[in-house]
Amino acid sequence: MNFTYKNPTLIEFGKGKIANLKNLIPKDRTILFLYGGGSIKRNGIYEQVIQALQNHSFVEFSGVEPNPTKETLDKAVLFARENNVDFILAVGGGSVIDGSKYIASSFHYDGDGWDILENKYIPKKALDIGVVLTLAATGSESNSGAVITKKQTKEKRFFGSPFTYPSFAILDPDVLKSLDDRQIVNGLIDSFVHVCEQYLTINHGCLVQDRYSEALLLSILELMQTFDKKDDLWYANLMWSANQALNGLIGTGVPQDWATHFIGHELSGLYGIDHARTLAIIQPNLLRELLDEKSQKLLQMGKNVFAMQTDDVNKVIDKIESLYLSLGVNLKLSSYTDDKNIAQKVIELLHKHGFDRFGINRTVSKDTVEKIIKRSL
Ligand code: NZQ
Ligand code: ZN
Repeated sequence: MNFTYKNPTLIEFGKGKIANLKNLIPKDRTILFLYGGGSIKRNGIYEQVIQALQNHSFVEFSGVEPNPTKETLDKAVLFARENNVDFILAVGGGSVIDGSKYIASSFHYDGDGWDILENKYIPKKALDIGVVLTLAATGSESNSGAVITKKQTKEKRFFGSPFTYPSFAILDPDVLKSLDDRQIVNGLIDSFVHVCEQYLTINHGCLVQDRYSEALLLSILELMQTFDKKDDLWYANLMWSANQALNGLIGTGVPQDWATHFIGHELSGLYGIDHARTLAIIQPNLLRELLDEKSQKLLQMGKNVFAMQTDDVNKVIDKIESLYLSLGVNLKLSSYTDDKNIAQKVIELLHKHGFDRFGINRTVSKDTVEKIIKRSL
């Protein structure tokens, strides 16, 4: 397909790079220093940022939750306006970065910021954003997307805008060392599924996109298999793999299929399940339901990523599932919630969000979602 490609985010990668903040943000800016629940105060990142910003003026807003909520972010918008900020520095994982994109886009808008998530308001400008990444998973540090939850209605929705690409992202792999295994596993799975959503589509013959996706899948697979031998290079490889998985490049000019993410987002919104875990639960069962349309690419993945000599697509799906199990992820939806009406609630929310039929050939219907959820219980 024809395409225009531009990723404007400057990446500063490596040990000690947080100190570069002092040069990356102009001195005349008033910065909103945005962060989450306080992990940065326990692992030394906060001090590094404060040190780097000693000649800048900034105000702090903390408490952005995992699966960030509009309710908290609206408070940050008011705070940002009261303090006349003109730059947001997001220090955190996907949640804080996504939160910064919501704040940046709502800042100049008089209405309810949620309108952006409902496509009732298309941002025409946004505050500049800079990022210090603390968790490698989403790729949000150099893409334009954001996923925000409305606590009141348990809805989780996404938006993207050309104005919400961060202007820079600092990727120091050392910061990942304070993450617990659960978050590192989440990062591996989220980035793996990001590649899959752009790769497990149709046989399109775009060699660069296919071979680069396979290179990323192979890299993440190797990281999964060496999970117990994490050294500096392991963390650096994770950080770069997760970034490349969703910085827009491998999905450029080819069809994409984000069906697993669409269902996963509703599950996080309803039950607060970690984003990556919703993907691990749903993806294998979605592939089983869409066996025919996914078979060509799955067999290609089996051969080129898992070195499998098989014509049996089910074996490739089993292999993907076994990877998630090997990382200790519980793949039974029923162990995350007692709700007996999961399928019905997910289908209702998907309908509300305009997803009555989705997937690469619009084959994912209400019935398909119901079957996928039934398999996942
Ligand atoms: O809040 P703090 O105290 O900082 O703790 C966080 C949080 O509890 C902690 N953490 C982060 N860095 C740490 C650390 N703990 C110790 N050491 C560190 N260095 O980790 C917890 C999870 O953080 P979060 O930002 O929620 O994780 P993640 O990066 O996985 O982001 C998930 C969010 O991103 C969205 C997801 O839906 C979810 O809301 N996504 C965003 C995408 C995008 N913008 O492109 C795409 C993805 O598919 C995804 O949907
Ligand atoms: Zn994801």
